[in-house]
Amino acid sequence: MTYLDTAAQFYSEVAQTPEAGLCCVQSTPMHLPGLNIPLKMQQMNYGCGTTVHANELTNQPTVLYVGVGGGLEALQFAYFSRRAGAVIAVDPVASMREAAKENLEVAAKDNPWFDTSFVEIREGDAFNLPVADSSVDIVAQNCLFNIFEPEDLTRALKEAYRVLKPGGRLQMSDPIATRPIPEHLQKDERLRAMCLSGALTYEEYIQRIINVGFGQIEIRARRPYRLLDTTTYNLEKDLLLESLDSVAFKVEVPEDGACVFTGKTAIYNGSDAFYDHNGQVLQRGIPAAICDKTAEQLAHKSPENVIVTDSTWNYDGGGCC
Ligand SMILES: C[S@@+](CC[C@H](N)C(=O)[O-])C[C@H]1O[C@@H](n2cnc3c(N)ncnc32)[C@H](O)[C@@H]1O
Repeated sequence: MTYLDTAAQFYSEVAQTPEAGLCCVQSTPMHLPGLNIPLKMQQMNYGCGTTVHANELTNQPTVLYVGVGGGLEALQFAYFSRRAGAVIAVDPVASMREAAKENLEVAAKDNPWFDTSFVEIREGDAFNLPVADSSVDIVAQNCLFNIFEPEDLTRALKEAYRVLKPGGRLQMSDPIATRPIPEHLQKDERLRAMCLSGALTYEEYIQRIINVGFGQIEIRARRPYRLLDTTTYNLEKDLLLESLDSVAFKVEVPEDGACVFTGKTAIYNGSDAFYDHNGQVLQRGIPAAICDKTAEQLAHKSPENVIVTDSTWNYDGGGCC
């Protein structure tokens, strides 16, 4: 039996007996006008952030949702796309697929705008997505990829890349670790399945996304998630996990490296009206969104003329790199 089988067994259990509070952060699920979320679906919120970015879901995108859970985010994506087959939700655990199907049937009774045909639930897993190459606008996963061992994470990222259309987006939410998680915890298959011990550091997580070919990554949110304390987890020091919401774009990696936007801005404070850096024009006194690569270049080249602000970890579009 592999750690992936342990995870499947664990999710089979929590599909049959909802475990409120597993994974999720202390924030209420997004409320949208006219969206009623069934109680059992709320109790089965096994995500650790959100992958549904409301202001980016125009033009009824086709969404491939990996690891359906109770169906909460599949329903939220369907809210924006509202057409048959717009959301394809994949899960290898039969009882999870069954629970999601039942929850979506309840949702259809409570939401006049929703039809169960909007979400198609398919058997499959993150390493074998049951859709063609370059066929979907968005791949989303919430609190699943962190349970994978690093090489399996890379396989899952490559598979997401395969099915995305050019320019498509991988929208993820996962725990990350503020320092490497010790091996004894990484090897604990149940803790890993519970999203508590598979997390990578921010740097390694982002690098693996870039390594499979995503040329631009934007961080939508970063917040405290769980504390692994010394007593319960047999650690020398407490270890804080954070949860990270990110969007990775299937665009070419620029020659000088991928663009990662974490919410930094550059502000020109010199005496002229404009400052030009590699084609990026900064207007005196007006903050411009920049990616971390540009931030680093500016900080080295023009520290006296340009102020670079800290990451807000809450970037939602605009700017260039
Ligand atoms: C932590 S839950 C997250 C559920 C959902 N995304 C949410 O936010 O509530 C992980 C989900 O991934 C599913 N899963 C487990 N192993 C998987 C795999 N190898 N590929 C795809 N899904 C998997 C589980 O059955 C479960 O539905």
